[in-house]
Amino acid sequence: KIVPVILSGGVGSRLWPLSREYFAKQCLPLVDKEYSLLQQTVLRTLSLEVADPVVVCNEDHRFLVAQQLQSIGVKKSTILLESKGRNTAPAITLAAFEVLRDQSDDTLMLVLPADHVIRDLAAFEACIKQAVDLAKEGALVTFGVEPTRPETGYGYIRAGERFSVMEFVEKPNLEKAQFYLDSGEYLWNSGMFLFRAKAFLDELVAHRDDIFQAVSLAYQQRSEDLDFVRIDADLFAQCPAESIDFAVMEPTKKAKVVPYVGDWSDIGAWDALYDYADKDADNNVLLGDVMAEGSVNCLIRSESRLIAAVGVQDLVIVETADAVLVIDKNNAQNVKQVVKRIKAEG
Ligand code: GDD
Ligand code: MG
Repeated sequence: KIVPVILSGGVGSRLWPLSREYFAKQCLPLVDKEYSLLQQTVLRTLSLEVADPVVVCNEDHRFLVAQQLQSIGVKKSTILLESKGRNTAPAITLAAFEVLRDQSDDTLMLVLPADHVIRDLAAFEACIKQAVDLAKEGALVTFGVEPTRPETGYGYIRAGERFSVMEFVEKPNLEKAQFYLDSGEYLWNSGMFLFRAKAFLDELVAHRDDIFQAVSLAYQQRSEDLDFVRIDADLFAQCPAESIDFAVMEPTKKAKVVPYVGDWSDIGAWDALYDYADKDADNNVLLGDVMAEGSVNCLIRSESRLIAAVGVQDLVIVETADAVLVIDKNNAQNVKQVVKRIKAEG
């Protein structure tokens, strides 16, 4: 049996002004008009034979998440609530405890970030099927994506024969990333994982027992109401914040990689959304009430008012009820700075 574990903890601040504290990017219909990224992530698993999903998210998002699951027909789920995120290693550890509580020892966890877009369902299914046997044997399986640029925000995996992982490097610097890309021997870590809950916990104990112990204490003091499982805030806050990639995937010898050959995108910032979306004849992505004249290579998204763009290029313009963003598309990562400033200045 496979339990989908959906990581839905981030806010996605680089997609401001659309993403907000209380309306995280994975809950937005960013790409597909009908479903949010979170909903698409859950829907993607339905064609595999899976158990009820486990979602790990911030407690502020609980009603939004519950409502979004319900509206796509998920009857039963477990929603683990973090008061404050401690990154992915603790989040996945919580899910592993939860899975082991009421499933058998050989249950597999399919860990999926809630903010990816994958359109090629057949490819997704095929590579997961390929990974099942490896995971059953105790491997921590990652899914590797062919890299296309020296991205420093991803993990890199040097793949050997028969799914073996020769090396796993999380978020290298630009020089290294360029070297990995040029070598042709590395894949990007897609951020999706398949493993037995027990196999993951064993490796966590081996490499980061401090995280295991801290999460274990916090999980023991959980409280349940309806589908929600609330984790003790004070105890969880004491857990070291670390990603699964640094905590487990880099040091472990149990990693395997299955290549994922299909479309995949982590919609981190507006430029990624632009790259992913379908473009018109002028290479623009126009969403909502937008008029573009002599403008090229822009992403323009209107929520309530008409946007007219004349003679501009490489811009991202995003209009919402209370804020408008105008930014050079090649600068899209820097939206973070604006969000920081708004927070600081109130
Ligand atoms: N519940 C919960 N709690 N979820 C979290 C937390 C947390 O504290 N922190 C992050 N997440 C969720 C995010 O919402 C996202 O869906 C997923 O976990 C991954 O976190 P990111 O913060 O987006 O990670 P990343 O993009 O920097 O790096 C990871 O993904 C890359 C591919 O997209 C790594 O796995 C890289 O190796 C990988 O290449
Ligand atoms: Mg990400």
